[in-house]
Amino acid sequence: MKSVASAPGKIILFGEHFVVYGIKAILCSIDKRITATSQFSDDKKIRIRSLLGESEMSIESLNLESVQHKFMKPFFYIAQKAIKENSMEHGIEISIESEIPAGVGLGSSSAACVAVTASVNGLFHKLPKEEVVKIAIQAERTIFEQNSGADSSVSTFGGLVSYDLKSGFQNISSRNDLSFVISNSTQVHDTQDVVRQVRNFKEENKELFNKLCNEEIEIINNAITSLEKNNLSNLGLLMLRNHDLLKQIGVSTEKIDFLVNEAKKTSYGAKITGAGGGGCIISLVDNSNMDNTFSNLKKISDCFIAKIDYDGLKYE
Ligand code: MEV
Repeated sequence: MKSVASAPGKIILFGEHFVVYGIKAILCSIDKRITATSQFSDDKKIRIRSLLGESEMSIESLNLESVQHKFMKPFFYIAQKAIKENSMEHGIEISIESEIPAGVGLGSSSAACVAVTASVNGLFHKLPKEEVVKIAIQAERTIFEQNSGADSSVSTFGGLVSYDLKSGFQNISSRNDLSFVISNSTQVHDTQDVVRQVRNFKEENKELFNKLCNEEIEIINNAITSLEKNNLSNLGLLMLRNHDLLKQIGVSTEKIDFLVNEAKKTSYGAKITGAGGGGCIISLVDNSNMDNTFSNLKKISDCFIAKIDYDGLKYE
């Protein structure tokens, strides 16, 4: 028996990093997915295969601290938890396929945690989305303790949402099916390192950080109104303002700023998406200007077109 589930990547339109300190973020899932396939194994091992590598451990001696590849730890956590809770004697094989580039701010590790949680538990019984997201966040916290849960939430439920630590996520109604060009700097980052770097910045610049948080709150409130009114020009300007805040907290790079400057020539606006320190930028484009923006960015980066995904986690 095979259990297959897939979950989408995400982009953050507004509020990355500030969301870790309780401020609202706006994000959406995108039409690029990670698919996890699980089946029982004949022996007592948990085996994980993905494009990034392979790893196996015995269920009898599994100790999460000894997992070699750090990025595999959440998957062993998920499998171990399901095996224990279902008093299983056999192991599980998990294979992970991805359409989402890793380590560039598009939520690949959260999407993988969501897909693996649903697929592994689906061998026993299909968990509701509310349960999947809780386990996926716990799993991701085995390697990234300060993770806000925003990425896993949007990957599970899909759509365009606001998210904050206190009240979780809320759907945002928008009359527009937004289109984005995502441009990858190919500078890979470790989200946890960049979040740690921002924490240090906050500790050393308390007053400035407070001021930037207030500016972010104003941008987000304004952005929610612009989305509801379908005012894309204003949304683009707000994205550029948000990018400037991200520059001030030190998560942009020369290459990212270059990409943002190029993207804004033919789009409503552009900014870093996700942790920064490299990674991707998003540009919000009018469909009439899609080709121009895409071909311009294609000359200088890896890029692709993305639309909002409204399904979130899917069992197949
Ligand atoms: C990473 O996609 C978003 C961050 O805000 C971290 C988080 O919310 O956990 C940088």
